[in-house]
Amino acid sequence: MKAVIVGGGIIGGAIAWRLARDGVAATVLERGRLGREASWAAAGMIAPQAEAQSAGLFFDLCMAGRRVFAATVERLIADSGVDPEYDAQGILYLALDAAEHAELTARARWHRECGALVEELSPAEARRLEPAISPAIVHALHFSDNRRVDNRKLTQAYVAAALAAGAAVRENARVDAIVTAGGRATGVRLDDGARLDADLVIIAAGAWSHEIRGLEGDRVRLFPVRGQILCFEARPRLLGPALFSPRGYLVPRRDGRILAGSTMEEAGYDQSVTLAGIEKIARGVAAMAPAIGELRFREAWAGLRPATRDLLPVLGPSPTAPNVIWATGHYRSGILLSALTGEVIADLVAGRRPAIDPAPFSAARFARDRVDL
Ligand code: GLY
Repeated sequence: MKAVIVGGGIIGGAIAWRLARDGVAATVLERGRLGREASWAAAGMIAPQAEAQSAGLFFDLCMAGRRVFAATVERLIADSGVDPEYDAQGILYLALDAAEHAELTARARWHRECGALVEELSPAEARRLEPAISPAIVHALHFSDNRRVDNRKLTQAYVAAALAAGAAVRENARVDAIVTAGGRATGVRLDDGARLDADLVIIAAGAWSHEIRGLEGDRVRLFPVRGQILCFEARPRLLGPALFSPRGYLVPRRDGRILAGSTMEEAGYDQSVTLAGIEKIARGVAAMAPAIGELRFREAWAGLRPATRDLLPVLGPSPTAPNVIWATGHYRSGILLSALTGEVIADLVAGRRPAIDPAPFSAARFARDRVDL
């Protein structure tokens, strides 16, 4: 079987790896450079308990994402030779006022009801775990099995593992349209007019996924949500756990860098870093861990989260061309959901039963949706 994967980010890489392992001849087509969009811009948290705001479909998906990631990462390291720095210090979720305290207490309750691991900490207990947190913290949760990776290395790992398993990748290859015959895809056409035949086409092009012509009937639409990140230099292990709060987050890297995020902006496809974004992130840093404000500033960047109208990913066959598979719209959780998405898509292709029911994530939900695009 020949598969074309449109999009060479973390999702395309993860799918290519899993398909190639199953013996599928997978080719990744990337319009620019591999892994240089949202996969590169992310902070790298494997943080289901920080990202989901309530029990239900999305939380269950994120928890499955964490489980599959944990079950997959050693094989990925072995197959790729790349260490994605899957660090185990957990995530400390901080409250700075009474309203946030109440939110954390409620969050701890529903996490426990769902069977997730959560510990409620007094300010003194939280400070013992991470002395750099602000004296103004009033309450904290520790998610000890939520972790982090270096998302750039993780993307490299998926691509390297895919190549080692026999996949091919092409950069600067922009797909213009799906080529169809008799209601099925027969391949893709590139913007230079070249055609690539395929038995299967997978759309993993993030915020650009809906620009590929030929699937308009699916009514899938992606909205870019800009996130800016500031990066500081510190000595390694200055921060232990990643810090998260309604005001932002801080994520340490093994080499000492500390990433501070982020913004949630509708700015079209503009990937600028702005003074307003820097100010917003800096206020969050000062509230969570004021000592970070003394560190040397290194760089800043921005990326585009791929959001759908209901903020859920789109996973599974196209309702209009069943051998086209959507794997996009991962919004804030593409790193967390990368291993799960690769596995689910490979399972669907091979006819195996996936770890999650993909039906609620089908593009069919948009055809039922009466909202004008
Ligand atoms: N997952 C963190 C973010 O999207 O900012």
